[in-house]
Amino acid sequence: MPTETAPLFTPFTLGGMELKNRIVMAPLTRSRSSEAGIVPDYAATYYAQRADAGLIVSEATNISAQGRGYAKTPGIWTMEQVEAWRPVTAAVHAHGGRMVLQLWHTGRISHPDLHGGALPVAPSALKPEGQAFTNDGLKDHVTPRALETDEIPAIVEDYRRAAQGAKEAGFDGVEVHSANNYLLEQFIRDSTNKRSDRYGGSVENRLRFPLEVVAAVVGVWGGDHVGIRISPGTNQPGGAPVDSDPMGTYGAYLDALAQHRLMYVHDIEGVTQMSRDADGIDYPSLRKRFAGAYIANNNYDLALANKTLGEHGADLISFGRPFIANPDLIDRLRSGAPLAEAPKKYWYGGDAVGYSDWPGMSGPVQA
Ligand SMILES: Cc1cc2nc3c(=O)[nH]c(=O)nc-3n(C[C@H](O)[C@H](O)[C@H](O)COP(=O)(O)O)c2cc1C
Repeated sequence: MPTETAPLFTPFTLGGMELKNRIVMAPLTRSRSSEAGIVPDYAATYYAQRADAGLIVSEATNISAQGRGYAKTPGIWTMEQVEAWRPVTAAVHAHGGRMVLQLWHTGRISHPDLHGGALPVAPSALKPEGQAFTNDGLKDHVTPRALETDEIPAIVEDYRRAAQGAKEAGFDGVEVHSANNYLLEQFIRDSTNKRSDRYGGSVENRLRFPLEVVAAVVGVWGGDHVGIRISPGTNQPGGAPVDSDPMGTYGAYLDALAQHRLMYVHDIEGVTQMSRDADGIDYPSLRKRFAGAYIANNNYDLALANKTLGEHGADLISFGRPFIANPDLIDRLRSGAPLAEAPKKYWYGGDAVGYSDWPGMSGPVQA
């Protein structure tokens, strides 16, 4: 099949938006924001350079000070943060792109240094493996504080306000980050949720908080402008094993999400950045539980993306790492050109170097 007419390059209607192709830029934390959670001005250039994608999902963005887990990540809970995102969405729109904001609360994947010495919060007081990225470098995770039942409505309200902030900042919608073992997924999995109140125990109880969050965000945007990211098979970061019954738990989750008529489910298939295999998880049958669009992610290349779309294994495919060093990724995929690879030292932290200065195949990429 000629690349030009390959499924990846055909348009798709998502949440009433006409996407020019089926390529999604996956959320990529790049850790270049200020201590106050303000995205740098050159973020507008970086995202606009990549606006040829059918849809851009922003880097994970903290919904509150409590949600922070990594130094130099952006926020959406202050007016200053909202204002800083406006030139970004305007630049993406000026280049004909679409962009949603990923709403993030890291829960236990955090460190007291990011909370003035206070403990990070989580469903249960269970210490994650590994280290947190603080302003003073990597530091061991600590045992978090279990949230009191009566603290939970305030976090739901933080999500609602953040969703409102995203609207004011000019985004086209939001993606609820319910993946990669951050707060929402910590509640979902029985490996990280040992609560005995109405937010723990049965599947119904463990899904309660994430679904309250979804309902609050849908209240701001309507379901057709809200996507959600899930990772039933991934155990990164923090080393937590997946749920003891991922098909049962995530199947019930998708059934409930389908009721909200969400715009899409963005599924990290397998273990993030590692492997596309996940023991005991049948992605096609999970997908059938949800009627909205399905974005598949993790280790896709051009051939696998087209094969998956052609076999109706997904509606859209997201690419993460390939977007870092290839601002013109869509053109490169379309022409079968080789992809540049970004050294890891540019992934997190630093400035415009290794971020918005990657050239395209034929010189600088305008934005
Ligand atoms: C530098 C970097 C930052 C990432 N930041 C996020 C993030 O903010 N939110 C998220 O959901 N996933 C994040 N991910 C995961 C990617 O979105 C994606 O799931 C992963 O890289 C696998 O897709 P790929 O094989 O196309 O890179 C990040 C990955 C990388 C490499």
